[in-house]
Amino acid sequence: MTLWSGRVGAALDPAVWKLLRANDAELLPYDCQASAEHAARLHGAGLLSEDELNEAEERLAAIAHDPATVLETDEDVHSAIERALGPVGRKIHAGRSRNDQVAAALRLYVADACAEAREEIDALALVTLSFAETEAETLMPGYTHLQRGQPITLGHHLLAWVEMLERDRARFAGAADAARPSPLGAGALAGSTLGIDPPDAQMRNSVDAVADRDFALDYLYAAATLFVHLSRIGEEIVLWATSEFGFVRLPEEASTGSSMMPQKLNPDVAELVRGKAGTAIGRLTGLLATVKGLPLAYDRDLQEDKTPVFAARSDVCLALRGMTVLVSGLVADRERLEEAVSDPLLLATDVAEDIVRGGIPFREAHEQVAASVRDGSFRAGTTPADSVAARRAPGPGGVREAIAAARARFGQSR
Ligand code: ARG
Repeated sequence: MTLWSGRVGAALDPAVWKLLRANDAELLPYDCQASAEHAARLHGAGLLSEDELNEAEERLAAIAHDPATVLETDEDVHSAIERALGPVGRKIHAGRSRNDQVAAALRLYVADACAEAREEIDALALVTLSFAETEAETLMPGYTHLQRGQPITLGHHLLAWVEMLERDRARFAGAADAARPSPLGAGALAGSTLGIDPPDAQMRNSVDAVADRDFALDYLYAAATLFVHLSRIGEEIVLWATSEFGFVRLPEEASTGSSMMPQKLNPDVAELVRGKAGTAIGRLTGLLATVKGLPLAYDRDLQEDKTPVFAARSDVCLALRGMTVLVSGLVADRERLEEAVSDPLLLATDVAEDIVRGGIPFREAHEQVAASVRDGSFRAGTTPADSVAARRAPGPGGVREAIAAARARFGQSR
């Protein structure tokens, strides 16, 4: 029995039913929450008695976390809830449509997914900060073009990872803000005549309220950008763990072996995260393409918003937890790092800057040093450690202070 069987009498073709049916059981607790809010407002408008409200609230609480609520014969989670509520279910749809209902449930879902992402980001940031603290003074070459450039410290490099994560956290907070206003009361697209009190933060326009999916796009963008960052971090771990670099050793609890080559220790966590970044980008572009060209207000195309959002939430969580285990177990190979940073040519910029201090134009200093590099007479007047110490914020000279400041921003005293 569908919610619209009063209008369409013929039994649907099974192929059509399969196409129509939403895979949206994940929305159940969120839809129950929004439905309870709507029931309270119906009661406020005198359209639901005290007993009916109590019954609706009790039943909603009972089914909210029971996956058996949604049956194969339900068109979607909204139909399932209405059926499962029994007689009061037949009253509760007054003044609403599945169009504002699904938008309300998905908004609550996205807000929750954002909060979850932020917690997992914090966990990864904190283990990265611990690693940065352990390696605050460990010198390493900094790279541009994947060619050794100037000496930095491993701690300084790791703090760059934390910066990316901090921006990710803000992006998820922004998506949660976008999801906050409530579409309830918009009905199918034009509101209702029933005089129901609006939610606290009701959306201003009923057409926009059922048509808008920007909050889902913001969430998918936050997830895609997070994945791009995790992928770059993952790529660095893959590189650093090679015999060629040898900067870090992988923890066994986050590594795999080879089925054939007995000696292998492989960075599969980092690789999978790098791989999932592609999928995460696809989810964003997919929903952008779905929404593009849709006439306002609601269209059934919008049912396609759920699959990418659900999958993004699951992948964000899996990836962040996996990376937290990986990063917390990384061990720096200080000897290899020391060896890599000891090439005196990494101090060529320092020498040029020294010449500049004597009043020589930088371009001329650059040419002088470049010539000494070319003819083999280059001599560094400083050490990598002194060079690092001399390059203050945003350079590597103040790593410990930067760690303390980052910890404070992540709400941790240490
Ligand atoms: N399952 C639908 C969705 O996810 C709910 C809204 C259906 N509305 C409608 N008028 N057919 O978008």
